[in-house]
Amino acid sequence: MSELVPGVLPFRSAVVPAAGLGTRFLPTTKAVPKELLPVIDTPGIELVAAEAAEAGAQQLLIVSSPGKDAVAAYFAESSELEKELAARGKEELVAKVRRAHELIAVRTVTQDEPRGLGHAVGCARDAVGPDEQAFAVLLPDDLVLPTGVLAKMAQVRQRHGGSVLCAFDVAREEVSAYGVFEVEDTGDEDVKRVRGMVEKPPPDRAPSTLAAAGRYLLDRAVFDAIDRIEPGAGGELQLTDAIALLIDEGHPVHVVVHRGGRHDLGNPAGYVRAYVDFALADPDLGPDLRAWLTDRLKV
Ligand code: UTP
Repeated sequence: MSELVPGVLPFRSAVVPAAGLGTRFLPTTKAVPKELLPVIDTPGIELVAAEAAEAGAQQLLIVSSPGKDAVAAYFAESSELEKELAARGKEELVAKVRRAHELIAVRTVTQDEPRGLGHAVGCARDAVGPDEQAFAVLLPDDLVLPTGVLAKMAQVRQRHGGSVLCAFDVAREEVSAYGVFEVEDTGDEDVKRVRGMVEKPPPDRAPSTLAAAGRYLLDRAVFDAIDRIEPGAGGELQLTDAIALLIDEGHPVHVVVHRGGRHDLGNPAGYVRAYVDFALADPDLGPDLRAWLTDRLKV
């Protein structure tokens, strides 16, 4: 794969939709936004903010809703707490507390009602600079590991233009849990041109085993497409419908097949796995947890 053209930033803005209702985590999400649930001690949204910053993004555009002010508050400076911790000599904690607001400039845009992911992305239109031809979208409940796929996606946009999505190659019997891509080869095993997408197909009708993940590098043409789609599944404006419209109109859309791991923090089952996985990898928590789990699983 070719390197990025020097001096050309693939994207400046990374949009993080965080205005959903989080119904799968009720009752907690009555008061705590899903995006702030911790994986060990760090919320998923900080992990994706770090990923965006690492990929070169300069501003994080968090799409939030009127009831979820805690998300923006999480990224604000907490100087009183920092002072207090510093006075107690807790420098390590000061660094942890500062990390979120030092990572990247954060701006919040409001989605008044949860009208779907496509609508949420559309709410960021005026905050994405008029000169920015493309921007990233990262879903904060989807951890794509190891990080780095956005850089690969930027290379693909430089080569092929248009929009670039991210996919995982999953087992055929698992496809019915995902949006699945219909693709054609490009000559690069890890890059496919997208012909279409099917939501949650039965395994025998799936056009491929490439399942969509929550990373997007979208041409700003998607804003216009969002304006032209009708509400789809669940009465919501779906981002995939806007992308499907672009594909139908000949806009190039490719996927990068990410050969790595993934955690879906958006539902309790996926969240538990992520938590255990991160804890097992943690040098302080891992050994004890492993021993406890081994013992626990004997029962
Ligand atoms: P999800 O569908 O996983 O989140 O959307 P949700 O709707 O909050 O969760 P459930 O299904 O009710 O449990 C993926 C991301 O898109 C955001 C969510 O906050 C989440 O981070 N989102 C979704 C919005 O910002 N606005 C919407 O209208 C819908």
